[in-house]
Amino acid sequence: MDICEIILDQHHQQRRLFAALEEFPRDDLDGLAAIWRQLETLLELHAEAEERYYYPELVKIGTGAADAESNVEQIGDALKDHNELRDAIGRVREAPTGSEAWWTAVIDANTTNSDHMAEEERQDLADFRQQASLELRHELAVRFLKHVAQHQGERVTAENVDPEDYIDDAAMSPRSDAELAASDKKAEQTPMRSSDDPDPSIKASDA
Ligand SMILES: [Fe+2]
Ligand SMILES: [Fe+2]
Repeated sequence: MDICEIILDQHHQQRRLFAALEEFPRDDLDGLAAIWRQLETLLELHAEAEERYYYPELVKIGTGAADAESNVEQIGDALKDHNELRDAIGRVREAPTGSEAWWTAVIDANTTNSDHMAEEERQDLADFRQQASLELRHELAVRFLKHVAQHQGERVTAENVDPEDYIDDAAMSPRSDAELAASDKKAEQTPMRSSDDPDPSIKASDA
């Protein structure tokens, strides 16, 4: 499993659901409301799970990829986008389904999310692929998927985060459980040589 692939896959799901809303019959208000509920849950849970599991690790090991000025800049931007997206989702919730205000807020959510996903894929995810071990990517994927599955169908309403505080807290925090678990697993998989084992530096022909 790989956290980068899971995030990317959920981005595709989000794009597909926004496209479904755009082409859905405009007078089927029950249908529009139901598809929006499905999309809203996915958007909220996805951003919340990224902030919970993925971004704290990127704070520690990221370097700033592609057109990012730095790691702090790429993460700060992503967190601001999450806040903007939550604000747009809040406005959709308050408007009657299918009304002009509802569609305006849906389009705002789509625009914010599309720009965010493109940047997240180009900067944050590309950076993580370069910097994170496969073990860490696996550990985070397990935690991320478990969290999403456990909260599927719930209306998640995460608080907006202060990007500076979030980055400071993550940078100061000790290595996460996921990182520790990944390095433990790596150590377990590295065979230990006992004193009875032949020294690998001695070739068979020398023995
Ligand atoms: Fe994402
Ligand atoms: Fe994100």
